[in-house]
Amino acid sequence: MRYADLHQKSITDPNGFWMEQAQAIDWVKPPSKALFDENAPLYEWFSDGMVNTCWNALDRHVEAGRGDQLAVIHDSPVTESITKLTYTEMRDQVAALAGALAAQGVTKGDRVIIYMPMVPEALMAMLACARLGAIHSVVFGGFAAHELAVRINDAQPKCIIAASCGIEPGRVVPYKPLLDGAIAEASHKPDFCVVLQRDALQADLVEGRDHDWSAFVEGASPADCVPVEGNHPSYILYTSGTTGQPKGVIRATAGYMVALQWTMKNIYNVDPGDVFWTASDVGWVVGHSYICYGPLIAGNTTVVFEGKPVGTPDAGTFWRVISEHRVKSFFTAPTAFRAVKREDPEGAFVRKYDLSCLKTVYLAGERADPDTIEWARKQLNVPVIDHWWQTETGWAIAANPMGYEPLPVKLGSPSVAMPGYDVQVLDEGGHPVGPGTLGAIAIKLPLPPGTLPNLWNAEARFRKSYLEQFPGYYATGDAGYMDEDGYIYIMARTDDVINVAGHRLSTGGMEEVLASHPDVAECAVIGVSDELKGQLPLGFLCLNKGATRDSAEVVQDCVKLVRDQIGPVAAFKLAVVVDRLPKTRSGKILRATMVSIADGKDFKMPATIDDPVILDEIRTALQTLGYARS
Ligand code: COA
Ligand code: AMP
Repeated sequence: MRYADLHQKSITDPNGFWMEQAQAIDWVKPPSKALFDENAPLYEWFSDGMVNTCWNALDRHVEAGRGDQLAVIHDSPVTESITKLTYTEMRDQVAALAGALAAQGVTKGDRVIIYMPMVPEALMAMLACARLGAIHSVVFGGFAAHELAVRINDAQPKCIIAASCGIEPGRVVPYKPLLDGAIAEASHKPDFCVVLQRDALQADLVEGRDHDWSAFVEGASPADCVPVEGNHPSYILYTSGTTGQPKGVIRATAGYMVALQWTMKNIYNVDPGDVFWTASDVGWVVGHSYICYGPLIAGNTTVVFEGKPVGTPDAGTFWRVISEHRVKSFFTAPTAFRAVKREDPEGAFVRKYDLSCLKTVYLAGERADPDTIEWARKQLNVPVIDHWWQTETGWAIAANPMGYEPLPVKLGSPSVAMPGYDVQVLDEGGHPVGPGTLGAIAIKLPLPPGTLPNLWNAEARFRKSYLEQFPGYYATGDAGYMDEDGYIYIMARTDDVINVAGHRLSTGGMEEVLASHPDVAECAVIGVSDELKGQLPLGFLCLNKGATRDSAEVVQDCVKLVRDQIGPVAAFKLAVVVDRLPKTRSGKILRATMVSIADGKDFKMPATIDDPVILDEIRTALQTLGYARS
């Protein structure tokens, strides 16, 4: 069947299509049907089946005789070490950790927060939760204590599993003080913590609350896999919305497994035993789906990489890892390639390695600019596939089904809708527009299996954020268009979310932090274009009348405040003091106009602007930072 027909079948007969795909995973009790639409517009998949994710990711491969195959390769240039774990070793270590957690009272439905760098133990922690039916929530290591505290309060974990430190190029990041600070700030307190002590830095443990990982698992009786309902939440992953309160995206168990299993062959073109590498972080959705769950469910070997594209030690690291571990499919963010390209434009490092194992490269997380794609394609001489998705969806909305029917690549497009995604471009009134016309990108409900069924503790917010703008559709928050062949083009976000080095950040969240500074009366944060990171946040600060401190000092304070409150990952380093902000007559700040000025782009003077002169002041202020040059 051609891919276009397969996609059509997934839309017209979702039950038939997904029940067939569901056969590729092991069930304790098979579901009676795929789609549960009784509560529309809230949908569920495979709700009455019974399954276990850890079984599907580890045990079943051991049972099938693949126990000696490598499950995980930890390649860590920052610690100069490589560690390899077979499926049997992973299964045994995960069962022991799960047993130890169970002995401390962790059971099905309990939440467990995981705050760890890119070490195999992070995957073990996720899988141990899955083994027990506990719901994990991984928090990215680049977030500060306050962000962790916000997530602790929302998820109310029984336990937090952390590492003593992360390792960034040139510095060790102590995680334990951040963890202790977060627990002190949070109103909810976990019963206990488990801390992986790393050689680079041993953490002080709190007597009676903290357990050393090695002692904790030693002698633990291994736990069996606990069957859970298909609609049981397997994890919560917090992502940026328009405010400082992140959205807790829920991932239901069975649909996620079925969808990921489908993607490993049909999108990523890997078979059991093939080596698959995603250079991202387990703190992001890409890491959940394609460092941990997807490749393991499909019986691949997954590479866990603790390093950066450049500087650990050089711009050849990616190629060394691919060559050394015989990676077949490689997935990363465009910003990573831009970093490599900047240091090695001619690809001198590429030619140092035998990359004959590499068949396809995948990019996602932000818009892939055609220059970067072309550069990568030319250097590596393999197809470079852009694909588009979100934390909410858990897997690609649009991609090129390389393992099913490779479609022609069109530069600038992440290709076509994946199964179950009925993608449409809508005008402001919610009517579909024709090919080539820009609009809001929405997905006709139901979304396919694997996508979010709801937000944790926030159903009203779920409905308001995603379902109410266009009744009958899920609003993606992205704008773009579709061509005559159904290729999708993603052009911009329609909300205040920005994308910095493939990391999704909320400008609203940063504004909340800036506004808390005693000298700041009003502020705005926008995302300006950046050659390396795609976008960078830039803050405008209006100071209180009578504020006596020097503007430069307030800017410095504000940069520190965002780093301390949100974390280094916000990459907030640019701010400028202005007298006033440009607004409409009704008081709405004209952020989009400010972005155009900063990027040196033409723009239409908003008809409702209160005082156009302010735009000249904004331009002058931006020029002091090196922006707004046409
Ligand atoms: N723990 C602690 N700090 C972290 C961190 C972590 N896990 N990850 C990033 N940081 C820190 C960085 O050290 C940096 O700190 P600094 O301000 O002191 O330099 C800051 O957060 C910003 O990080 P980042 O935006 O990643 O910039 P960078 O200069 O360190 O690296 C790239 C730039 C392009 C090399 C890097 O962003 C990259 O590899 N990006 C790939 C993106 C990706 O994988 N995205 C996931 C979606 S697919
Ligand atoms: P996240 O939830 O962090 O994965 O971020 C999702 C957002 O990143 C999307 O809504 C898009 O705005 C952007 N994004 C992800 N992948 C792509 C892509 N391939 N092309 C353009 N934008 C992308």
